Amino acid sequence: MTTTAHGGPGLPQERRLVTEIPGPKSREMFTRKQSAVPAGVGTTLPVFVTKAGGGVLVDADGNSLIDFGSGIAVTNVGNAAPKVVERVRNQVADFTHTCFMITPYESYVAVCEKLNAITPGDHEKRTFLVNSGAEAVENAVKVARLATGRPAVVAFDHGYHGRTLLTMTLTAKNMPYKQGFGPYAPEVYRMPLAYPFRWPGENVAEEAAAQAIDQITKQIGAGNVAAVIIEPIAGEGGFIVPAKGFLPRIAEFCKANGIVFIADEIQTGFARTGQMFACEDEGIVPDIITTAKGIAGGLPLAAVTGRAELMDAVHAGGLGGTYGGNPLACEAALGVLETIEEEGLVERARAIGDVMLPRLRGLQERFGIIGDVRGRGAMTAIELVVPGTKDPNPAAASEIAKRCHAEGLVVLTAGTYGNVLRFLPPLVIPDHLLEEGLTILEKAVSEV
Ligand SMILES: Cc1ncc(COP(=O)(O)O)c(C=O)c1O
Repeated sequence: MTTTAHGGPGLPQERRLVTEIPGPKSREMFTRKQSAVPAGVGTTLPVFVTKAGGGVLVDADGNSLIDFGSGIAVTNVGNAAPKVVERVRNQVADFTHTCFMITPYESYVAVCEKLNAITPGDHEKRTFLVNSGAEAVENAVKVARLATGRPAVVAFDHGYHGRTLLTMTLTAKNMPYKQGFGPYAPEVYRMPLAYPFRWPGENVAEEAAAQAIDQITKQIGAGNVAAVIIEPIAGEGGFIVPAKGFLPRIAEFCKANGIVFIADEIQTGFARTGQMFACEDEGIVPDIITTAKGIAGGLPLAAVTGRAELMDAVHAGGLGGTYGGNPLACEAALGVLETIEEEGLVERARAIGDVMLPRLRGLQERFGIIGDVRGRGAMTAIELVVPGTKDPNPAAASEIAKRCHAEGLVVLTAGTYGNVLRFLPPLVIPDHLLEEGLTILEKAVSEV
């Protein structure tokens, strides 16, 4: 592989600290950011990136950091992945926009064809493209409401679906996502999630599903529910893998009651969990699936894929948007899908999990501060507690993250209680960086 002056996999795949983190140039830019950008737009780690690729982010001071974040599960194929760069470069020189609703172009259709083919289920499907995950979720609900003629939408504890009015309402956690931004959208109901680490009973899946179904039936009335929306692994909620059996039971209930089952695979999709989509793990076939993030390697693109009869229920002009399925983003998505296939990234995600999970479990055995280790493929997390209890320990999570950051390892926090450290390396991260990142994490955990 040749090294390049640009980002991408040709960047030296090494951790290299030449200043403190953040360095002086980043600190200067961060001061500018604070004057120019509202504080509401937060910053996890104020290093300003100039190049990225493979498993590293290079900052303005010349530091090279190991990336365990992928820009929140976006650069699954790596930053500036060659196939993405080549396609986008060609497209930008040809045309940048026509608006697909005015004069269409083939790449949009090709992305939709591919999503129809690779998402779970061999029924006839349709896909349309939008700009962000939140927009995809909003549209999935629009389709479900119109197709069923029903108003209610059911979401789950620990769920995250975005920051727009409806998606913020669907999101469970108040601070920071909802606080002060109400009133919220009507006809949204929240049900319990089968959260194995925190469920009080023994039969997590059965008990949680029974409670959810009972509440839907008694409080809303199944016949009033347009859609149930759920992340197959709760992302922002703390990488909660619902107890096995919970998702199939909810999906079955939806089917029996004419409720549209929407799988929000915005964080879990595109090989991240060691399957193309996390739903595949328990053979779930959603009626509608929302995707974004990993779909286009960082270009803004999201999709709604669903049963043809649901999607085609919408009248002409009822769906769309100026930029949805922008040609650059569509080319990027085609480059992403080629890369996932050609580089075997589904298998690679599984291999990453096989490296990470045993090391994280080893850490859990040594340090009582780690209450739970969970995840699938390259979507793993540790939940920090007060040792000897299950009390959330958000201070430990932020202290460990701070120590990792100082050592040049980018990790992200998550969780309803702010006490989860989540790990989302790009799937193309080389093994030596994965191991080095875990060693930095081990040291940080041992010191807190
Ligand atoms: C599961 C899930 N749904 C929806 C969203 C919202 O996506 P976006 O930030 O692109 O609007 C996210 C973003 O983190 C997500 O993880």
